[in-house]
Order: sequence, then structure tokens, then C-alpha cells
Amino acid sequence: MRLTGALDTLLDRTIVPGYSRIGYVVRRTWWSDDVPDGALAGRTVAVTGANSGLGAATTLGLARLGASVRMLCRDTARGEQARADVLAACPGADVEVEECDLSDLKSVRAVAARLRDALPGLRGVVHNAGVLPPERTETAAGHELTVATHVLGPHLLTAELRPLLVADGDARVVFVSSGGMYTQPLRIDDPEYRRGDYNGTKAYARTKRMQVVLAGLWAQRLAGLGASVHAMHPGWADTPGITDSLPGFARVVGPILRSADEGADTAVWLVGAPAPGRTTGLFWQDRAPRPTSYLPFTVTSEADAERLWDYCAEATGLA
Ligand SMILES: NC(=O)c1ccc[n+]([C@@H]2O[C@H](COP(=O)([O-])OP(=O)(O)OC[C@H]3O[C@@H](n4cnc5c(N)ncnc54)[C@H](OP(=O)(O)O)[C@@H]3O)[C@@H](O)[C@H]2O)c1
Repeated sequence: MRLTGALDTLLDRTIVPGYSRIGYVVRRTWWSDDVPDGALAGRTVAVTGANSGLGAATTLGLARLGASVRMLCRDTARGEQARADVLAACPGADVEVEECDLSDLKSVRAVAARLRDALPGLRGVVHNAGVLPPERTETAAGHELTVATHVLGPHLLTAELRPLLVADGDARVVFVSSGGMYTQPLRIDDPEYRRGDYNGTKAYARTKRMQVVLAGLWAQRLAGLGASVHAMHPGWADTPGITDSLPGFARVVGPILRSADEGADTAVWLVGAPAPGRTTGLFWQDRAPRPTSYLPFTVTSEADAERLWDYCAEATGLA
């Protein structure tokens, strides 16, 4: 036990082995708590950005556990194509596509209302949708695109789905963040990246840091209400998100990238397994909690975290 713990930590701290396929394959040898097929029968999970990469793999993984999955996609044609792939791999699965653009607060409110009308409860929501725009882009409502997609949309969706999550009794909210967040502090002084030269990778990492802090805040707000909240990072997985947005990186680490299923494993496990429901507010990779900061300047104060909550509440009209 002590040896595997030390090896696990070594893989994490040395980054390349831990984030690549090597970490997945090695850690898999000591995982004992696979979720049995059918464990989520009768439960429904919403997955955002479900038509591609990790979102599609998460949908398939949850469907294989027997869950009904609502695939929240901004392009329903791409969503239906991904749904067909899931049904081919998991015949008879109950998966449906729901239109939702996470960067558009009206669209988020609308899909949540449809889900509230249709469902008695929700086992989970996986906040997976992600973007890495090369230039600073604003949504129609005037929010910078990465913060709208990674933070404001998920915040509003969680709030709007809260009654369904509480009704489940053992619900899981999962934020799919990124190891890139380790490089950035919470920039609550400039959440919409209005100052300085815009850098897409930095904007992405800043909002991935925000997701981890926001997960902790939601964990506090939902404590004792039958819903746990988790942030995780998938390591480096071979998806269109990596190959299209970071082609140089994908070329260099290509041979050791994880598959999308391997990258999605921890998100699926966080929704399906019993153990994560006994914790809340942690940051996970490969089924183990990880530190949220290594560099002193990236540690978030409680006061700044609360300022993030206030910013999200105001920007989403929940204040
Ligand atoms: N792959 C990795 O190694 C890696 C590493 C760290 C973190 N992540 C995180 O994992 C998540 C999934 O990424 P991926 O690698 O699977 O990338 P991907 O293949 O590009 O998938 C991203 C998904 O998000 C959707 N999306 C983007 N903006 C959206 C919006 N406004 N509304 C609804 N859906 C939207 C995309 O839809 P369209 O098809 O319509 O564009 C797509 O389905 C992201 O949050 C990413 O930050 C991935």
C-alpha cells in the first residue's frame, strides 16, 4: 500500500509519466474499485460537450454503467452523430441529445428547465465542455469565451439543476478541469481577461483554476444536501481538443497520449463509484485526490474564493 502510494505520488509530481498513458496503465494495476455494470441503472446524468473527445467517452462510460445520459451539445447534428456512435458501442443505451450552448446563459437556463420538466432527479452533471480560443472572444452577453464556457455556464447549470441533484440523494457534480490550472492563480481581479495581452492558453488555464475553486465553493453550498462536488483533470488524452488546439504539443507527446476512454475514466468513476460520494470538494486525477497547488503564488485565499462566488452570482444573474 505504502509503495503504491509513493509510486502514485511520484507519477503525479513528475508530470509526464503521470499525465500520460503511462500513469493510467500503472495506476490501473492497483485500482480495485471498478464500478460494476448496471450500477447506475435508473439514474440520469447530464454531460456537457458530449459530442466529442472526453465528453463522448464519458457518455459511453456512463451508459455502460446503465445510466441514462442527457448529452448537452451546442450542435445537435454533431450530438446525434456522437449518440449513434454510443448506441453502436452500447446497444439499447438510453442516451438523448439536448441542445445547449454553455457559453450562452439563456441556452443554459432553457436546457435546465427542460430537464426539470422531464426528470424526477439527476445522479450527476459532468461539466466537460471546453474551448481554447486563440484570440480574446466575447459572447453575445459580453463575457470572455473561456470564462463563459468553463465557469459561468457550469455555475448557472449547477444552480438551475440543484433541485434535481438534491432529489437524487447521492448526486455528483464533476468539473473537468486541467493540469494546466497548476500554472495559474485565481485572477479574481481580472476574471474576464480584460488586462494585458490575451493569451489563449493562459486564459484556458486561468478558467480551469476557477473551476477547481468553484467546485470547492459548490461543495460547501451543497454539503449535507445529498450532492457531492468534485473537480478532476484527465491527464493528456488524444482528443480533437488536444490535436486541434495544441497541435505542437500533440505531436510531441502523441505516442504516450491516453485514449479518450482513459482520460474520461476518473470522471465516470466519480459519478458511478460509491467512494467519491463520501467526500466532497476534492481535486482528482486517476481516481485519487491530488493537491490543488504546488506553487505558492497559486494558492487561493478564502476571501478570493468568495469573491469568485460573488462574481459568478452577479454575472449569471443569480445575485
Ligand atoms: N484532452 C485532454 O488531454 C484534456 C486535458 C485537460 C483537460 N481537458 C478538458 O476536457 C474537456 C473536454 O475536452 P476534449 O479534450 O474532449 O476536447 P474536444 O474534443 O474539443 O471536446 C470539447 C467539447 O466541448 C464542446 N463545447 C465547447 N464549447 C461549448 C459550448 N459553448 N457549449 C457546448 N459545448 C461546447 C465541444 O463542442 P463542439 O464539437 O460543438 O465544438 C466539444 O464537444 C475540456 O473541458 C478540456 O478542457 C482535456
